[in-house]
Formats: sequence, C-alpha cells, structure tokens
Amino acid sequence: MITIKSDYELSLMKEAGKIVYDTHQKLKPYIKEGVTTEELDKIAYEYIISRGAYPSCLNYEGFPKSICTSVNEVVVHGIPGKQKLKNGDIIAIDICACYKGYHGDSAWSYAVGDISKEKQYLLTHTEKALYEGLSKIKPGVRLGVVSHAIEEYANKHKLGVVRELVGHGIGKELHEDPEVPNYGREDSGIILKEGMTIAVEPMLNLGTRKVYLLDDDWTIVTGDNKPSAHFEHTVVVTSDGYKILTGDDNYE
Ligand code: MF3
Ligand code: CO
Repeated sequence: MITIKSDYELSLMKEAGKIVYDTHQKLKPYIKEGVTTEELDKIAYEYIISRGAYPSCLNYEGFPKSICTSVNEVVVHGIPGKQKLKNGDIIAIDICACYKGYHGDSAWSYAVGDISKEKQYLLTHTEKALYEGLSKIKPGVRLGVVSHAIEEYANKHKLGVVRELVGHGIGKELHEDPEVPNYGREDSGIILKEGMTIAVEPMLNLGTRKVYLLDDDWTIVTGDNKPSAHFEHTVVVTSDGYKILTGDDNYE
C-alpha cells in the first residue's frame, strides 16, 4: 500500500531525515585511512541515539550493526567490522534513523584519501544519476520516468545499473511500497502524488551490473570485483516537485 503522509507525519520525517543528514556530516571527518568500519558504526550509533532517534538498520531482519559500510566492490549492506580503510578506497555509508516512529534513509559514497580517476568518475556520475532521477519527480509523473532517467544517465556514462536492489517508499516502515527501480520504461510504475515519500537510491558499478551475495548473507558484491557506488536520498513529492528530506536544504 502506498501512503500519503499528513503534514504532521512529514514534520517527523523531516526530523528523521535531518538526523540522517547530520549523522553523515558527523562521520565525514572520520572517513580516513586507518579507521575501522566498526568505529564509524559506533560513532553513528551514539550520535543517532543522542538525537532521540534509533538506527533503523540495527536488528532490521537481523542486521547486526547500526549502519551499512560498503567498501570498493561491495555494492550494499556491508557489515561494519575490523576492516581498516586504506588510502584509495571508496566507501558507501548507508544510514537510516527512526524518529518518533518515522524513518529517514540516505546513503552516500565517499573517497578515502586520494582515489583513482576511475573511482572518482564512478562517484561523480552515480551522484549525478541520483539527481537526474530526482529532477523528474512531481505529481502526475509516472515513477518509471524517474527510473528511466537514472538508467539512461548510467548507460550514457557506461556504468552498470544494479537491478537486484531497488529504492522504496518510506515512512512508518523503512521499506514501503512502491519499489523504485533504477531502470525501466517511462510508461511504467505508479503515478506520483503530493505527499508520497520515497527513497531513490542508484547503485552503479564501474564494470558489470551483475552482483552476488557473500556467505554472511548480507554483503552484496560486484560480479567482477570492480568498484560500486551508492547515493540515496529520502524525498517527499510536493505540489510542484519534490523536497529532499535527508539533505542540507531542510533547515529553514
Ligand atoms: N538503507 C537500506 C535501504 O536503502 C536498508 C538497509 S537495511 C539493513 O534499503 F538491514 F541492511 F541495514
Ligand atoms: Co533505502
């Protein structure tokens, strides 16, 4: 079921989104050579709790940590642990927070020190693919238009579009209807309406779009071990477009 959020619900989602955004900002200075992904997890856990929220990933279907940390060829759902970041790595950090019963969800990919031209290209164009998709959002538009825009942008830049994982509606649940694929036909999908809240999250690969699941049953990696990037925002459909709930523009 796709829900339309009331102004009150949106005010809570805005706060959840702000907490997610602020947690990313809090982590940024720590994303350096030598830090372990479980150190980043601990900082995020403590910060989210200090804001009166709960890290939605923790215990979600048994996920053992508060954030997902996906390094280099890991596409999504990397589990924080003893792995130390190295100069030249890229890391996608996926943060979800639940505030007074409503969720915010945003992933961002970061460079660790100096990264290769290829990795920088991947980061730049995956972020741009996200905004390319978001730019299509307004009432009356089919969701397929958003999906298609992301796919087309990725194809133009010769990046692999992961299909096994998709964006999603979000609100009282972390994952609600509708699914938001990063590929598809423009004439497909539901028609967007004011007050819908969705998480749009392209996962793009430098090589093949194929991915597989590791034995830990969480970590998803690229089929050819080439790097992958992930950028995600939670947004609300407004009367004439959309508003990002997990960005820096909801401080007013
Ligand atoms: N943030 C992820 C998403 O976009 C959800 C991760 S849930 C976890 O859907 F359990 F893997 F942490
Ligand atoms: Co998500």
